[in-house]
Amino acid sequence: MWVNMSSQIKSDEYLNFLLTRRSIRKFKPTAIDMGIIKKILDVARYAPSAGNRQPWIFIVVTDKGVKDKLAKIHRWAYPLESAPIGIVVACNRDVSPESYQVDCTCATMYIMFAAHALGLGTVWLQTLRNIEDVQKILDLPSNYIPVAMLAVGYPDEQPVAKIRKELKDIAFLNKYGASLQP
Ligand SMILES: Cc1cc2nc3c(=O)[nH]c(=O)nc-3n(C[C@H](O)[C@H](O)[C@H](O)COP(=O)(O)O)c2cc1C
Repeated sequence: MWVNMSSQIKSDEYLNFLLTRRSIRKFKPTAIDMGIIKKILDVARYAPSAGNRQPWIFIVVTDKGVKDKLAKIHRWAYPLESAPIGIVVACNRDVSPESYQVDCTCATMYIMFAAHALGLGTVWLQTLRNIEDVQKILDLPSNYIPVAMLAVGYPDEQPVAKIRKELKDIAFLNKYGASLQP
């Protein structure tokens, strides 16, 4: 198939954009303009969701006291301490009982990529073993499940890409175990 040179360059840029996202755990103290955060969340509204039910809400955390409490829900949530902003993605379980976790994951990835596009770093922090703790800290009603929490800020580190599984071990043709290789 003939590919226009400039669209080929664009596709490579887009793919490279996806490949250059990294989890960032060390942030500069630089404040983030709320306009930028709103821009990111505005993009997240366009994430796919089952039946387009959009069961998510986004809680932006700027208050140091609240942020520090969230940073202590478990030992791997520490990146939130140095991040100027946290974003908690919570989903209304009643609106999408089968898919709320998947829907919220899509919205979270949109936030991560929109932040990446704007030069911000993020790291996803596990919340699913501490649902009640997060609900309590944020006054969330019990039907709102905090599916993800992100530390967001300008990166103060440049981590190398983590090792990935080989494509041959995870991608198959037509049935499990059948090689994609010609
Ligand atoms: C559901 C989920 C939970 C995660 N929880 C944590 C966490 O609690 N703390 C943390 O530092 N990183 C956490 N991560 C980030 C992963 O460690 C990271 O995505 C993975 O090591 C791959 O690195 P990369 O994002 O730089 O490609 C989590 C990621 C996901 C998707």
